[in-house]
Amino acid sequence: MIGIFDSGVGGLTVVKELRRQLPGASFIYLGDNARTPYGNRSQDIIQKYSSDDVEFLIGKGAKVIVVACNTASALAGEYLKQKYDLPIFEVITPAAAAASQVAIGHVGVIGTRGTINSNAYGRQLQGLRPELLISSQACPLLVPLVEENLFNRAETKMILRSYLHPLKLKGVDTLILGCTHYPLLKKHIQIKVGGQVKLIDPAEEVIKSLGEYLLATKQNFGDGVAEFYATDPDSRFKEIGEVWLQEEIDLQRATL
Ligand code: DGL
Repeated sequence: MIGIFDSGVGGLTVVKELRRQLPGASFIYLGDNARTPYGNRSQDIIQKYSSDDVEFLIGKGAKVIVVACNTASALAGEYLKQKYDLPIFEVITPAAAAASQVAIGHVGVIGTRGTINSNAYGRQLQGLRPELLISSQACPLLVPLVEENLFNRAETKMILRSYLHPLKLKGVDTLILGCTHYPLLKKHIQIKVGGQVKLIDPAEEVIKSLGEYLLATKQNFGDGVAEFYATDPDSRFKEIGEVWLQEEIDLQRATL
């Protein structure tokens, strides 16, 4: 059983990718939406919340953990890998690796304040290719816009422009979409930065490395179980999640 967690509903973009790349794989999803957003919190808090999330998933039988949340991956990824004795897949390592393989010379990173301030993507990228230029931009307004479904609105396009135009002017050739919600804005982001810029989706990359691991260890968890938990199931999680996944979600309460 694969355990996936996020600060809320955003990690369903990773579930969508799991379904696309590894159809039929069994998973449990936990959205800690009672304590969302993680994006503005300190490292100590993120490490504590992430440990609670992992322990909940282990308690439900997870044998592998996917940290869908970029903020949790950035601020607690290494901590979780040291603390728990099971494979932990966070999004930073595979997304930075993918970006370093395709970048010409200048990588842009967008994410929550927590992810950007941690410089987790920057450190990994420079470890892989020290000569790369890296430009980062926190985009704290994008999460609420996506959750409110305001994709095609003029205000969204204006805000996107104000975040992305400086990166375009600096000449980034590759852009990491470093937050669970941003793949849903991919089309608009591509327009703002220009068609030649390569977009890296961490959801796609983390599931790719999970797939390689499952293949190498001859596991597939292929009996199609899908369980969804939220720490606040009476919120808008179900409504938003069903639109994103295009399926009915039987949402259960998680008590951490
Ligand atoms: N899931 C978070 C991330 O990918 C975004 C939402 C939040 O701030 O909790 O960074």
